[in-house]
Amino acid sequence: MSANPHPATTQEPVPQLDLAAQYAGIGDEIRVAVERVLASQQFVLGREGAAFEQEIAQLCGVAHGIGTGSGTDALMLGPRIEGENGVALRPPVLDDYHRYSKWMLEPGATRFWAPRWTTDTTESVVERMHRQTESRTQVNWAIAYDDETVGFTGVFDIDWVRRDGVTGLLIGRIDLYGRGIASEAVRLRMAFIWYQLGLRRTHNWIAHANRGSRRANEKSGYRQMGLFSKEYFRSGDWYDTWLGEAFPETYPKERIPSPWREEMSRD
Ligand SMILES: CC(C)(COP(=O)(O)OP(=O)(O)OC[C@H]1O[C@@H](n2cnc3c(N)ncnc32)[C@H](O)[C@@H]1OP(=O)(O)O)[C@@H](O)C(=O)NCCC(=O)NCCS
Repeated sequence: MSANPHPATTQEPVPQLDLAAQYAGIGDEIRVAVERVLASQQFVLGREGAAFEQEIAQLCGVAHGIGTGSGTDALMLGPRIEGENGVALRPPVLDDYHRYSKWMLEPGATRFWAPRWTTDTTESVVERMHRQTESRTQVNWAIAYDDETVGFTGVFDIDWVRRDGVTGLLIGRIDLYGRGIASEAVRLRMAFIWYQLGLRRTHNWIAHANRGSRRANEKSGYRQMGLFSKEYFRSGDWYDTWLGEAFPETYPKERIPSPWREEMSRD
C-alpha cells in the first residue's frame, strides 16, 4: 500500500491578513470613536476628518495632511515628489490652473502645440480643476522650481486593464528654459508611473521640431515608435509629429529617484 500523499495535518494555517488580532488591540478605541461619529451625525469631513488630517500630518512630521476617500484617490492627486536642483512635482492648486490659462497666451510656450488663445473663464478653470482631481484615469502635477509653479506634467487616458497611458508636459515660464527642469520633471513623473502606478507602457505625441521636449523624454526612456508626417499646421506650414513610447525596462535604472531607489536597494 502506498503512503497517503496528502496526510491530515493538525497545523493551523497562518492568516494572511489577521484583522481580528488587530481589532482585539484597538477595539475599545474604535467603538468609542464610532459612537462619537453616530452621535454627532456628521458622517463626511467635519471635526473627525479635520482631526484625522492633523494627526496624520503630525505622525508624518509634515505641515498638512489631506484625507481622501481611498488610497487610490490619494495616488490620483499626484503627490509631492522631491527632485534635484530645486525641481519638485506637487499636486496642482487653483492658482496653478489660473497660471496655465495665462501660459496659453504665451507664444513662446505654445509654439509647438497649443492654440494661441484660450476660452478659459474663472468658472471653467475651477471646473477643470475639479474634473481633473476627481478623475480616476489621469494624474496631474504642477512642476515646482524653487517652490514656484513653472509648469505642468501628467499621465492621462490611463487604461487600468492594459496599464497604459499618455504623458504630457508644459513649462510655462519660458525664461527658465534650458535649466533641466523638463528633464527632471520627466524623470520624477516616469518613476511614479512605473514604481507607484504600476503601468507597463506610456506614449507621448511631441512636435518633431520640439527637440527640447523630445530630448527630455528620451533621457528617461522614451524611444521613437513613429512619425506622423505633416500632422499639424502652424504659421503657414505643416509639421511632423513624433510618437514616442516608454516601458519600465527602458527607464535608466541609475536615475531612479528617491524614495524608490532606497526601496529597491532594501529588496
Ligand atoms: C520643450 C520644453 C519641454 C523643454 O523644457 P526645458 O526645461 O527647457 O528642458 P531641459 O532644460 O530639461 O532640456 C532638455 C534637453 O533638451 C535639450 N534642449 C532644450 N531645448 C532645446 C532646443 N531648443 N534644441 C535642442 N535641444 C534642446 C537640452 O539641452 C536638454 O538636453 P541635455 O540634457 O542632453 O543637454 C519646454 O521648452 C516646454 O515646455 N515648451 C513648451 C511646451 C511644449 O512644447 N511642451 C511639449 C509638448 S509635447
